[in-house]
Amino acid sequence: MRTLIISLVQTINGSYAQDGWSTGVSTKADFDYFISLRRKAGAIIIDRRTALNPALPVINAPGKALEHTPVHVLTESDPIELSQQLAEAGLDYRAQPFTPDTAAEVLDIVESTSDTLVCESGPNLAYRLLDAVPGAELHLSLSPLYSRTTGSHFSQLEATLNLRLIDARTVDDQVFVRYVKA
Ligand SMILES: NC(=O)c1ccc[n+]([C@@H]2O[C@H](COP(=O)([O-])OP(=O)(O)OC[C@H]3O[C@@H](n4cnc5c(N)ncnc54)[C@H](OP(=O)(O)O)[C@@H]3O)[C@@H](O)[C@H]2O)c1
Repeated sequence: MRTLIISLVQTINGSYAQDGWSTGVSTKADFDYFISLRRKAGAIIIDRRTALNPALPVINAPGKALEHTPVHVLTESDPIELSQQLAEAGLDYRAQPFTPDTAAEVLDIVESTSDTLVCESGPNLAYRLLDAVPGAELHLSLSPLYSRTTGSHFSQLEATLNLRLIDARTVDDQVFVRYVKA
């Protein structure tokens, strides 16, 4: 049975980016946790806009720790066009079409080197998957920061998701909370 871990870091006012980058809302403790999740990932899940952002480092670039880890780009848009765009950008990422009804099946069959899939997308895909994939775990990392700038990023998903708390702990000033859907 595969587990989907959805990793997100946010400020206390619910922003997932500062000046367009999640780095601005992260901390050293958060980054250490993010790396610990990567270490156990059999596959990485990202969204289309993150995948095609030329400013971001290639996740499975040769010589990197995740060189042999499959990276899947989940999209509700045209997967053929996305595959072409990924190929043109020289990215060894696989476009995977999904809908809320098929998300669980898609994540059960995508190539993965272990039973742990880690989603590193922004909040729009992350919360869609939390809603659609039974048993998905949200690992929410809360930074000791209020921040709203022109480059702040918030979830646009209109939904109500009731959650159950699995675990809560702190490292330095960072709070890590793990949830599953109730
Ligand atoms: N805080 C964190 O943990 C974290 C993690 C990753 C990224 N980020 C930050 O989040 C920002 C990038 O977010 P993003 O929007 O590219 O990723 P996102 O929030 O996951 O959303 C991107 C994808 O969601 C789908 N989507 C559907 N409805 C949408 C809507 N109303 N608005 C936006 N997207 C919608 C689109 O996918 P399809 O059309 O392909 O279905 C789109 O490509 C950056 O600033 C990045 O630094 C933060």
